[in-house]
Amino acid sequence: MNRYKVAVIGCGRVAEKHLKAYSKLKDRLELICVADPAMDHAKKVLAERGFTGVKIYSDYEDMLSNETVDICAITVPSGLHYKIATTCLNKGINILLEKPMTMSNKESKELYELSKSLNKKIAMGHIYRYFPLVGILREDIKNGAFGKITHGTICVRWGHGQDYYDSAAWRGTWKSDGGALMNQSIHAVDLLLWLMDSKAVSVTSKLAQRLRDIEAEDVGMAIMELDNGALAMIEGTTATLPDGKEAMFSIFGEKGSVSLGLKRGKPSLDIRNAKGKKINFRYIRKQLGKGGFKSFSYALNPHTGIYADLVNAIDNDTQPVADAYAGYTSVDNLLGIYKAAKEGCSVSLPLSEEFTTEDMTGFFGKK
Ligand SMILES: NC(=O)c1ccc[n+]([C@@H]2O[C@H](COP(=O)([O-])OP(=O)(O)OC[C@H]3O[C@@H](n4cnc5c(N)ncnc54)[C@H](O)[C@@H]3O)[C@@H](O)[C@H]2O)c1
Repeated sequence: MNRYKVAVIGCGRVAEKHLKAYSKLKDRLELICVADPAMDHAKKVLAERGFTGVKIYSDYEDMLSNETVDICAITVPSGLHYKIATTCLNKGINILLEKPMTMSNKESKELYELSKSLNKKIAMGHIYRYFPLVGILREDIKNGAFGKITHGTICVRWGHGQDYYDSAAWRGTWKSDGGALMNQSIHAVDLLLWLMDSKAVSVTSKLAQRLRDIEAEDVGMAIMELDNGALAMIEGTTATLPDGKEAMFSIFGEKGSVSLGLKRGKPSLDIRNAKGKKINFRYIRKQLGKGGFKSFSYALNPHTGIYADLVNAIDNDTQPVADAYAGYTSVDNLLGIYKAAKEGCSVSLPLSEEFTTEDMTGFFGKK
């Protein structure tokens, strides 16, 4: 079996999760180089994780001209994703692209189409699709085990203090990041719609800026109408206490309900059948049968699951579970939420024209 050569572009907070994955998947992945203008920081991060002999470049284009790699991790501020991802794909490199795919629905669609035309894989950093049980639940929901689905909800209360936003100039800006919905909630919206096997057809929303001194929202709420008539309710915020992080998903059907996620960092699971009986163990057993204990360990570092899936997709020429299409549609949905808040009315999805996070500049009255 091939051992794929890997490069990382951007060695900040999330890159550490990628490095953890390379340590777990040593037999399939070999990190050979990284690029980050903050070279000393990159050196420190690599040393702390026990990586030796990895070349460090200050410029990713120099790195890509000098090295031959199979997979590139793009872990830079979100506003840089499009340009770097396009460069990698055009050089024939498969990528693991962090979320959100880009800051524009048009650019995301372009990346999706480029990856398809070049037959290069894009695995998205949509970590929630790699949590244990969710794949099995999706199949059961799709096959009608929970009956007609009425609605689903997500609460992403991912508290970050002002220090988080002050730690890098791009955070919380419309141009390079967006707020609690685009950054902290996009992969949760993706999971909810994926679990419900539905597409959003329209959305209404409200955004607020309550506690954090940023350009974008620290509280956002939206209601989506789905193509099967069900509704989805979305709450995303970073204005909660930083030590009480919560990401909860609930789906309700005529024959049962599913509620799962993380509450204060601990897993929470409540699956009920039509009689209201808890059937968690049925699903835990199914997951053990399908993926063994290893699939539960991905909950500790979902990026390991994403890389294992990407390697499998390259080996077998299939699509990753969180593929380029998921990246594009998620960005389109999130931009729909922003547009609906800006226009103060319901917006149809998919968006018919280009919209970018920069179109939200000045929404809260700041430049
Ligand atoms: N999937 C997840 O769970 C998850 C979690 C956190 C962040 N993210 C995403 O990952 C991305 C990075 O977030 P972060 O929190 O690690 O940011 P960060 O600011 O901590 O790190 C970004 C790094 O990129 C480097 N960089 C900037 N410009 C560069 C360039 N031109 N070439 C190479 N390196 C460059 C910076 O020096 C920095 O080290 C964002 O898109 C964010 O939304 C995803």
